[in-house]
Order: sequence, then structure tokens, then C-alpha cells
Amino acid sequence: MKSNKNIVLIGMMGSGKSSIGKILSKKLKLTFIDIDQKIEESENSKISEIFSKYGEHYFRKIEEKISLKYLNSENSVISLGGGGFINASIRKMCKKNCLSFWLDWKNETIVERIFKSKKRPLAINLTKGQINNLIKERSKFYSLSNHRINCNKLDKVEIINKISDIYEYE
Ligand code: S3P
Repeated sequence: MKSNKNIVLIGMMGSGKSSIGKILSKKLKLTFIDIDQKIEESENSKISEIFSKYGEHYFRKIEEKISLKYLNSENSVISLGGGGFINASIRKMCKKNCLSFWLDWKNETIVERIFKSKKRPLAINLTKGQINNLIKERSKFYSLSNHRINCNKLDKVEIINKISDIYEYE
């Protein structure tokens, strides 16, 4: 039986939430919503500019408002920002309206991807040890999701198939 709930993808920066979400939404004929993109549209600024001009606290407030708005939609695949699921109100809304999937990778993969990317203000000055600590802290919250997908030995198509199989039979 097919679920009516949204799919929400959670996990660290660099876990592939946006790229996997986009393809997954096409496969399941659902709407794709990228929360970071919605934040940028609503603020008319890049995430990095919002961080540098107004700071993280301001960003988190906007992130909460935008996430709650879109988590309330229907028939969507939603890619949450890496810090979104740490917020209790966002988590509560995910539980109510969505099936959540944690895209879980080994730390080295995440660290490598974060170091390669220049567009992530939160991680730009972090050392490997600090990123490892962040992963450890956040994993406590990510593990509250409905399904943990161990992505380490899977390619993109296998990850997408795994999520869509769970969704279709939920
Ligand atoms: C953040 C992750 C980013 C973005 C912002 C903060 C985080 O999203 O929301 O830079 O706190 O982990 P991605 O996970 O899509 O990179």
C-alpha cells in the first residue's frame, strides 16, 4: 500500500539529500522541495550571506519557519538542511506528516565532501576533529528518524530504490 506521507531526507551536509531527493521525487512522481533553496528564495540571499550578515541564530529561526511551512505540504520529497532535524519543532512536524530517512555515511566520506565544498558556512572553518564531533552530536538526533539508510556500500540508484521500496510498502 502506498503511503500519503511526505518523504523527508535528513543527514549531514554532503550526505546527498538534495541530489538523491530530486531523483527520488521523479521516480515516485512527488514534488521535490529543497529547504535550503526555499530559504534562499525567501531571503533573496545565499545561505552563506545569511550566515555572514545575520549569524547562525537568525538563520535557524528562518530555517524553522520555512521547514515547518513545507513539511506541512503533501505528496512531496523534502530535503531538510543538515541542522533542521536538531530542532524539536521540526522533528515533531516530521513525525506527524512525513516518513523520515537518515542518509547515513561513514565519517570519512562526510569529512571529505565537506572539505571539497566551499558553500557551507557552518563547516568552513571546522577541523576534521570538529566535524567528527558534530557528526557524533547530530547522530543522536538523526537516529530518531523513521529509517536509517546505511549508504556506505550503495550507489545512488540503490539508495533511491531502497527508500522508494520502504515508502511504497509503508
Ligand atoms: C547546515 C547545512 C546546510 C545549510 C546550512 C546549515 C547545517 O544544508 O542548511 O549551511 O547546519 O548542517 P545542507 O545539509 O543541505 O548542506
